Amino acid sequence: MAKISIDPWGSFLVKDYEKLIGQYGLEPFTDELLKKIPNPNKLMRRKVVFAHTDFGRVLNAILKKKEFYALTGIMPTMDKIHLGTKLVIENMKYFQEHGAKTFVLVADLEAAATRQVSLEEGRKRALDFHIPAYIALGLDPKKTVFYFQSENEQVKNLAFIFSSKITLNEYRAIYGNTDPARIMSSILQSGDILFPQVEKSMPGVIPVGPDQSPHILISRDIVNRTKSTFNFVPPSGLYHKFTPSLSGDMKMSKSKPQSCIELPEGPEKVCKKIRNALSGGRKNLEEHRRLGGIPEKDMVYQLLKQHLIEDDEELERIYKEYKSGKITTGEMKDLGCKKMTKFMKNFEKKLKKSKKIVPKLKFIK
Ligand code: TRP
Repeated sequence: MAKISIDPWGSFLVKDYEKLIGQYGLEPFTDELLKKIPNPNKLMRRKVVFAHTDFGRVLNAILKKKEFYALTGIMPTMDKIHLGTKLVIENMKYFQEHGAKTFVLVADLEAAATRQVSLEEGRKRALDFHIPAYIALGLDPKKTVFYFQSENEQVKNLAFIFSSKITLNEYRAIYGNTDPARIMSSILQSGDILFPQVEKSMPGVIPVGPDQSPHILISRDIVNRTKSTFNFVPPSGLYHKFTPSLSGDMKMSKSKPQSCIELPEGPEKVCKKIRNALSGGRKNLEEHRRLGGIPEKDMVYQLLKQHLIEDDEELERIYKEYKSGKITTGEMKDLGCKKMTKFMKNFEKKLKKSKKIVPKLKFIK
């Protein structure tokens, strides 16, 4: 099956996204595919979405207005989320707006097994922050099905049934790790991924960062091996790149708070981080004007591209003006700070509102 192993619970970094596609059997997200997608979101248009697994099934359902679903999971390990999580939600929102039955689960059992977060604590964090944050970032609570892993009997039953379909050697080959807690969490995640099909088989898409790809690939194997019992449609994956850390590492991580932007974060704190971010500017102003900046290496530009600017033309203008040296590094940071402050204010406002919705939500069991 897989040639390289990915440990979704480790601090896995993708040095080279292309390599990952080749070695891990993901399919590249091509221009040709992009052209067929109706009203692609900015992550798709800008190739922040870089790969997929069998996305054609879902695209077909969108185009033919047939039933399909989109699903994601919340890991309630921390009190807050960081910018990287926003990418998943943006893709979920896209599918919700294009007709997907939408599922958001709280991975409280996974958090308990792999991160020692008690079920009570996980539940509290999810209700107090994660679920309202997902709503604040654009998911429509009226059109979203929520559940806790610990309360969903069907998901747990699926996990038990699936456990006979995968061998220890396969887990080892895929994850490079066979801790029981991880194996149980992985099987449970396959239960999550296929649960929406218990009532009716249909295509489904799981938008994730590349670290979660093993769960999708294993779930697809499980589908093949449970054909006689369930007749599930193999789930599709849509993979986005990570949001890089402000210091230029491949992935933003809470373990390095100075280069990680959390949601929400006050303007002073976030702007200070932006001012210290790795820049694609030159040694001094004279050189910057002469040679131009390097947007690809500029973390503030990356924030604009992935998170803060919707309009492609506006982004392109900034790209060109930075590259030509017209925009200085200082001006880039001012712009990043201004847009981020606006985003955070808006987010906090929406978060307050969506916290009021949570008590009215029904969680399926
Ligand atoms: N393992 C995921 C994470 O670490 C959480 C999760 C649980 C999930 N079940 C899922 C994600 C199903 C996508 C689909 O974030």
